[in-house]
Amino acid sequence: TAIEKGGYDHFMLKEIFEQPTTIYDCLRGRLDAETGNITMSGIQKYAEQIMNANRIMIVACGTSWHAGLVAEYIIEELCRIPVEVEYASEFRYRNPIINKGDVIIAISQSGETADTLVAIEKAKEQGAIILGIVNAVGSSIARISHAGAYTHAGPEIGVASTKAFTAQLAVLTMTALMLGQQKGTLDRDKFLLLCKELAAIPEKAEIVLKLDSQIKALAEKYKDAADALFLGRGYNFPVALEGALKLKEISYIHAEGYPAAEMKHGPIALVTDQLPVVFVATKDSYHEKVVSNMQEIKARKGKIIAVITEGDTVTPTLADDVIIIPAAHEIVAPMLSVITLQLFSYYVGVAKGYDVDKPRNLAKSVTVE
Ligand code: G6P
Repeated sequence: TAIEKGGYDHFMLKEIFEQPTTIYDCLRGRLDAETGNITMSGIQKYAEQIMNANRIMIVACGTSWHAGLVAEYIIEELCRIPVEVEYASEFRYRNPIINKGDVIIAISQSGETADTLVAIEKAKEQGAIILGIVNAVGSSIARISHAGAYTHAGPEIGVASTKAFTAQLAVLTMTALMLGQQKGTLDRDKFLLLCKELAAIPEKAEIVLKLDSQIKALAEKYKDAADALFLGRGYNFPVALEGALKLKEISYIHAEGYPAAEMKHGPIALVTDQLPVVFVATKDSYHEKVVSNMQEIKARKGKIIAVITEGDTVTPTLADDVIIIPAAHEIVAPMLSVITLQLFSYYVGVAKGYDVDKPRNLAKSVTVE
């Protein structure tokens, strides 16, 4: 397996580093940023039904569910279609209201997660249109879906999902761009701008990966924390959830992800000078609000680690540590900010001597409920 790991110590690290390529592979042949052409034939077949749907439901589990949350924000913004994101395990058992023509997007790396599979089987029987955003070609979820798009991230071996997540975001963003443009809810200039922003992600991801040794040093600094809090707003809120999930999975540190404003309704009680608080605070339309949340944490002596955009001069005065990433439109920025948190978790796990590719009690694919 040393050869399979391509010189990396673990599959997880290899897969994190593959992301510039996997995101590129996912966009290749589909997105022409110059002309603004997006070709996703499976989804295009159902474009009319999706654009006219009363709502879209997204069902998924784990990291894929976090991709769904980002997609909720993006689809509502660009396509003005209401979106609900559901844990597949809850959705399947709660007698959900499904009408003929409702659109359900199932997101799954493996395409074999039992809860997600059963959820869409049931919804399909009730007349829903099922779109699968799947990584594993020919998998059960891909086969049962009416249409969809593969994420083309290649096999993911590390139990904690990394490259599959960013590929899911790339596909979901392209889908929203394509539909928003056809529906007319997204004007041409913004559409073209976002196409270019999306196409620039692989190159910017390359730059983010250069932070590797800085993030490793940060991980070593914070590895003995008993708990950690991850905060973000807007498109970065699901990134905060994903950062917390990754840290739990890989380093067994108790971590919570929260919308930054909501932390006042609970997690703020945990803040002491012993608590690392990771802010996903890239420059976006929420930034000022996030900065004021940061001030609230600082006033309570929490240790602030902030993922920020280059050129930001305010945040570094508040944070104990900053991770500076390239500027990107807020809609595509999660694909960059999440990479820093993947690396952070990875290095905390390694520093603690854990088996990061196979964390205890977790399975790559949960095929039983
Ligand atoms: C497991 C894996 C996670 C994954 C989740 C959903 O919990 O450990 O990494 O996000 O299942 O899997 P799926 O294959 O449906 O995306």
